[in-house]
Amino acid sequence: MAKRKTVAGILQMKQSGEKITMLTAYDAAMAAMLDAADVDVLLVGDSLGMVVLGYDSTVPVTMDEMIHHASAVRRGAPNAFVVGDMPFGSYQSGTRDAILNGARFLKEAGCDAVKLEGGFEVCETVTALVQAGISVVGHIGLTPQTATQLGGYKVQGRDIESARKMIEEARALEKAGAFALVLECIPDELGKIISEEITIPTIGIGAGVHCDGQVLVTHDLLGMFDKFIPSFVKSYCTLAPAIKDAIHQYNSEVRSGEYPDEAHSFSGQSNLRELLVKT
Ligand code: KIV
Repeated sequence: MAKRKTVAGILQMKQSGEKITMLTAYDAAMAAMLDAADVDVLLVGDSLGMVVLGYDSTVPVTMDEMIHHASAVRRGAPNAFVVGDMPFGSYQSGTRDAILNGARFLKEAGCDAVKLEGGFEVCETVTALVQAGISVVGHIGLTPQTATQLGGYKVQGRDIESARKMIEEARALEKAGAFALVLECIPDELGKIISEEITIPTIGIGAGVHCDGQVLVTHDLLGMFDKFIPSFVKSYCTLAPAIKDAIHQYNSEVRSGEYPDEAHSFSGQSNLRELLVKT
């Protein structure tokens, strides 16, 4: 059984130029498969809201929902390095709430670290969490929890001023104590510069090949979520049509009486009715 990764081990991967793989997980079965396939870090993302819970955005996701799913991920992958995503409203009101909610991910769900979105405005919170013993992954660029303020789900840091600000925010988050940084939807040149400017690993999603690692929503990678597919997503297979085909076949076999056949039934006494009458 592979040993569980550590924060130090993840930092070391950047030093040695070993790319980090991160994927989202929301349940025990998928977590077990990802861990068995040797994914370095499992992220219980608040994308849970859109991918699994049917919300229109990540904003409605609650702490209780995140804890419920993060606990399942931990049960499915007892040895994985698991990061719990702090949902909207769980850390914006102040460091005390952030610590209480961050601690829930560690105590109740067995997570190894938490992730939160934002730049300068969350640096104090990041430091407070780290001082409380909670390891933190930052997240800048396109931050879905505040996408409406950013003008929607679009590429960030295209102009010089916003690129400069993002580089400064990356430096500030590293200084605040974050041990890794998700960079979402930014030009690849900016992803490269940020990755070179900081010593903690960058994990890109739509941020180009120069990041120290990559993260994707697993349902996107597997072609299971077709409501909205960002252009940076590479689907390595298309499970949605395969799943629909299988269900159609099941429906038709149940309706025709083809399923369950003998091979999928338990045989007993063929004269059971007779025996029931007699005894
Ligand atoms: O919620 C999520 O899945 C994320 C990743 C896409 C980085 O934040």
